Amino acid sequence: MHLIITLMHVLLVFGNDVESISLKNHFQFFIKTVATVYHSNWRQNFLAKNPFVKNRFKLTNTVTHYNSSDFQYPMILTVGSCLVHRNLKVARARYNLSQIYVDILNMNYDELPSDWAYENRATAHVACKHILRGVRRKVLFDENFIQETSEIVHIEWMKRNVHRSQQELMVPYVNLTDVEKDKDRQAVMIACRLYNDHYLYYRFNTTPIHFSGHIFE
Ligand SMILES: *[C@@H]1O[C@H](CO)[C@@H](O)[C@H](O)[C@H]1NC(C)=O
Ligand SMILES: *[C@@H]1O[C@H](CO)[C@@H](O)[C@H](O)[C@H]1NC(C)=O
Ligand SMILES: *[C@@H]1O[C@H](CO)[C@@H](O)[C@H](O)[C@H]1NC(C)=O
Repeated sequence: MHLIITLMHVLLVFGNDVESISLKNHFQFFIKTVATVYHSNWRQNFLAKNPFVKNRFKLTNTVTHYNSSDFQYPMILTVGSCLVHRNLKVARARYNLSQIYVDILNMNYDELPSDWAYENRATAHVACKHILRGVRRKVLFDENFIQETSEIVHIEWMKRNVHRSQQELMVPYVNLTDVEKDKDRQAVMIACRLYNDHYLYYRFNTTPIHFSGHIFE
């Protein structure tokens, strides 16, 4: 009898662990999917607004080991004089070999070095967490909820970026320009859409998201 109870106990504990591990995996999948679409959405919007911009090289702190002989094309980029990699997505400053730039406009989320992927991922994380919490608590997915969640995305962004120089972004959500507000809102809307499109309510044992009332697209 004692043995049976012990066995049941082991099974229960083990079962819960398996369940929580798979919930964690589902949550990681949710975040990664949202981060991926959020980044490609940014690329599309950026190109639509700046049709003549062909690249957007940014300094990366991630040490990646590139083969020096792959940096073949001398070019003057917005970041200065560089040698560009054969893949055209990475550049190295001509006069400082430890300065590596990546073209975030022409990279998929999967190609981004970890420092640049981090922000997308962190934004996706905040959006996913609040969407999932909202579904579990059966909140009304109305315009008000979307606004509030977008505001949280912005607040969390400010916390991560306190040392950034762009002071115009360090203001309450209501004071942001429409363009900036829309970035936060996009993260929330993408998370809602992908939650349904990937049938994540099955994975999280919840219900699909139904918008209530008028939602500004
Ligand atoms: C770098 O690339 C060159 C030319 O493609 C090749 O000969 C060399 O072996 C490579 N070096 C390393 C460390 O991979
Ligand atoms: C070269 O770049 C690295 C990384 O940005 C920087 O820390 C270093 O000071 C630079 N070196 C020179 C000589 O400018
Ligand atoms: C934000 O806007 C409100 C009015 O809409 C204004 O009273 C407030 O001072 C602004 N705050 C900042 C930090 O710009």
